[in-house]
Amino acid sequence: MANVFFVPKFIVTGDEALKTSMDYMKDFGKKALIVTDDMMVKLGNVEKLTTELDAAGIAYTIYSGINSEPSHSMIDKGIKIYKENDCDFLIGIGGGSPMDSAKAIGAVVANGGSICDYMGKKIEKELPPIVAIPTTAGTGSEATRVSIITNTDSGVKMLLSDVKLLASLAVIDPVFTMTAPPAVTANTGVDALCHALESYTSKKAFPMSKLYSLEAIKKIYQHLEVVYKDGSNVASRRAMAEASLEAGIAFSNASVSIIHGMSRPIGALFHVPHGLSNAMLLKVCLPYIREGAETELFELSKAIGVYEGDSVKDGADAFVATTNKLLDTLKIQTPADFGINKDEFLAQIPKMAKDGLASGSPGNCKNVPSEEKVQELYKGLWD
Ligand SMILES: NC(=O)c1ccc[n+]([C@@H]2O[C@H](COP(=O)([O-])OP(=O)(O)OC[C@H]3O[C@@H](n4cnc5c(N)ncnc54)[C@H](O)[C@@H]3O)[C@@H](O)[C@H]2O)c1
Ligand SMILES: [Fe+2]
Repeated sequence: MANVFFVPKFIVTGDEALKTSMDYMKDFGKKALIVTDDMMVKLGNVEKLTTELDAAGIAYTIYSGINSEPSHSMIDKGIKIYKENDCDFLIGIGGGSPMDSAKAIGAVVANGGSICDYMGKKIEKELPPIVAIPTTAGTGSEATRVSIITNTDSGVKMLLSDVKLLASLAVIDPVFTMTAPPAVTANTGVDALCHALESYTSKKAFPMSKLYSLEAIKKIYQHLEVVYKDGSNVASRRAMAEASLEAGIAFSNASVSIIHGMSRPIGALFHVPHGLSNAMLLKVCLPYIREGAETELFELSKAIGVYEGDSVKDGADAFVATTNKLLDTLKIQTPADFGINKDEFLAQIPKMAKDGLASGSPGNCKNVPSEEKVQELYKGLWD
């Protein structure tokens, strides 16, 4: 079977990436809708962007209403502002939430209807150009054909996946991630780790996607602990921003699997941030992933330099042990630490298992899980 490899049209990386990106943005139109959150305005990240847009002669309107993981009503509001202000293209600046929102607004502007119509559907018409500027490392949304929006009426975190959701321009300037506090750094960093791990062990993986998964994994095991402990380390922030991009490219091509499939329902029902719900699940799901992909975990142990021998079992053991140690260092909250009521969580397990499997992601494991297995793994979060 042939493999098709997707990436954004342009990717600008490194110091001064924002300035350089203006050469490309000029071709996207006269006026941009900047989609962001209040924190980006407060930290001055939006001002860094508008200073460059002013210098390039590009007009803009700012919509800073994405102040949590995006809901369908936030997208509705963005569509209205885009149309009222006659915008030509979108710039999502922030973590995954503003970037995904920019994509979702663009999808509906071009195709009509409501964002809730698009779950699992093909997007027919091209979106206006989307510029994605990540400030977390991260979701990798800048490089993926994915947007995740919560339908707050049905309580489902909708996975929208279509090649038309790829950004036209991704701008990766490590300066934007420098202000991320330790908990955001840890949770979003583990999100990138899950993208790399799940794509590497996915049954859809192929040689080119695996290159990106591997490169991301190497950087994450070397630099995530460093930026968690010292957020001012520029070299490690840069490495994590690159790792997030690479992991995004990897999973946009080879898909995520059981961790992300089980994570979205926790986010939708208990309002746990995306990176954190993945991080909570990683320890519980890793032994299950191993059952179908022990050789891959052995390969990863070699890539991160924690095992030198020839035993597949010992290499996989070393990878699991190193990952668990990293999660302990990052002080990942448990569902109980986060304030979730155990009885309420247990009562929702049947719905979460159904919704998780319906997203299709768990089916990308080499050992496709049953509904009973997914339920058992959810229960494992409380052991
Ligand atoms: N499209 C994709 O491929 C993809 C992949 C994974 C996750 N997601 C989605 O992305 C969303 C989560 O994105 P996220 O984890 O980046 O979080 P986020 O965008 O929700 O941001 C989390 C918090 O961190 C703050 N923040 C962001 N950057 C900061 C910085 N540099 N300094 C200080 N504070 C900062 C934000 O203001 C916010 O309060 C979820 O909706 C998730 O489902 C999308
Ligand atoms: Fe993710």
